[in-house]
Amino acid sequence: MDWSVFLLVGLLLLAGMVVLPIFCGAPWHPLMPKTIHRILNFADIRPGETLCDLGCGEGRVLITAAKDYSAKGVGVEIDPIKVGLARLLAKWKKVDTQVRIIRGNFFDFDPVEADVVYLYLTHQAMDKLFPEILEKLKPTVRIVSYRFCIRGMTPEKVSADKTLFLYQLTKGNEINQYS
Ligand SMILES: C[S@@+](CC[C@H](N)C(=O)[O-])C[C@H]1O[C@@H](n2cnc3c(N)ncnc32)[C@H](O)[C@@H]1O
Repeated sequence: MDWSVFLLVGLLLLAGMVVLPIFCGAPWHPLMPKTIHRILNFADIRPGETLCDLGCGEGRVLITAAKDYSAKGVGVEIDPIKVGLARLLAKWKKVDTQVRIIRGNFFDFDPVEADVVYLYLTHQAMDKLFPEILEKLKPTVRIVSYRFCIRGMTPEKVSADKTLFLYQLTKGNEINQYS
């Protein structure tokens, strides 16, 4: 078969991985390994905790949390190609029993089992998620957002470079002015 066909199919798949998510909530932007560790340390992930990544991309944050922090992971991703990639990576890294990747829309997802929710989205997507999502979360959940603060909520902790924000639910489902 002509190589140009493979090239065209490859380009179309890549375009799908990049373009589709922009219209669904957030663009795709893979992270450097040291950034992933910085996020997980900032979230203070402990062994046995369940980390939920809304829009998990290729799943590397969850896979690192499972491998290096003995956490459990649940990821939701809208793009079927990244879902397949994340499942393959989890299998390859031998954490597929700890990490579950769900193909779906995070606006419809119920993150009730999360001890920690991790978000790397956009302000627009988070404005749509909050405050409704708070009602579905455990009262003790920690929410960590990379690059974008959650508008209308006061963070418990902010990294020195102001790229990481941690929010903690402490009083039932009440938080700051959201209740
Ligand atoms: C900036 S990337 C973050 C990926 C991963 N969380 C990380 O930090 O490496 C945002 C991801 O959200 C996914 N996404 C966008 N809209 C979505 C939606 N409505 N439901 C599920 N996933 C979505 C995109 O496909 C993309 O993989």
